[in-house]
Amino acid sequence: MDAITLTIDGAAVTVRRGATVLEAAQQAGIYIPTLCSDHDLEPYGGCRLCIVEIEKMAGLPTACTTPATSGMVVRTATPAVNEARRDIVALLLADYPDDCPACTGDDRCDFHQVVAYLGLDEQPFRRLHRSIPIDSSNPFFERDLDYCIACGKCVRTCDEVVNVDAIEMASRGYTILPSAFGGKPIVQSNCISCGECVVRCPTAALMPKERRLPAQEVKTTCPYCGVGCQIYLGVSDGQVISVRGDRDNDVNRGLLCVKGRFGVAGYVNHPERLTLPLVRKDGALRETTWDEALEMVAGRLAGFGKGEVAVISSAKCTNEDNYVIQKFARTVLGTNNIDHCARL
Ligand code: SF4
Ligand code: SF4
Ligand code: FES
Repeated sequence: MDAITLTIDGAAVTVRRGATVLEAAQQAGIYIPTLCSDHDLEPYGGCRLCIVEIEKMAGLPTACTTPATSGMVVRTATPAVNEARRDIVALLLADYPDDCPACTGDDRCDFHQVVAYLGLDEQPFRRLHRSIPIDSSNPFFERDLDYCIACGKCVRTCDEVVNVDAIEMASRGYTILPSAFGGKPIVQSNCISCGECVVRCPTAALMPKERRLPAQEVKTTCPYCGVGCQIYLGVSDGQVISVRGDRDNDVNRGLLCVKGRFGVAGYVNHPERLTLPLVRKDGALRETTWDEALEMVAGRLAGFGKGEVAVISSAKCTNEDNYVIQKFARTVLGTNNIDHCARL
């Protein structure tokens, strides 16, 4: 690795050349408050909360947009830095509602973590109320832009990560907000409901409709297609109630599509979901054991010659399962009639 060493809050930190000051601080475990940065997004410098002092640099540069350089000396939490941060957050709080739904036990809200870090108990500015109608048109998430701080993360996510561009920042100045084309409900846009903007929103402006907190999480592989996205299923009372992508793996790096993010709990918990094989007896399908079902299938297959049967496998199976199935088809059944479908 082509590395450089700088000093942050008195500690020597070695990072890859090209890393930002923010990345260097995060690598060293030094907290710098942020609201508009995300490791999947290009540096933006919008919220100004990550300002720091850097020796021999004028003003308070933003750590998320400033490249770390060799020998740089950075101070992340001086009185001047935190005073400026408090002014920024106080302005954001001026029109932020008190009754934030993200604070009802869900600790996902980055904004309130920043408020707590800066110790902002009192609001020095007059409170303003925007009363923007909530957009509940999407089946999986709500947009309540009274809570929007215009960080632009949702718009940049939709552009840079998902490449859909369903939303843009609309208007100017105080009234700037993310908007679907023509200010229409999000469901009328080309939004694919992936929820990537929802998981990155630092406030309660974008929230999933299902907000229960799971009692525990189980790491597994998304069952929908052959990509093999790694997910954490949130479980409470024996039911799957949430899904989140695992950012620490190279398959999907936390990204999910609409099916993986919002479509797993519905069918796993569905009362009519098949959990046992069915066999037809006396004209009706009845539940049976795997032993009986497999015996029946084996008996029927024995009555067909080579080339008279076909095997259809599924992308939901593992590579190993699919290997065994094609091997079984070719060597036991003697057929090359093998196909596959991601929807099975
Ligand atoms: S859900 Fe996905 S497609 Fe829709 S606006 Fe958000 S990021 Fe874009
Ligand atoms: S909706 Fe959320 S992510 Fe989008 S601009 Fe507002 S606060 Fe930022
Ligand atoms: S996190 Fe750096 S400006 Fe927002």
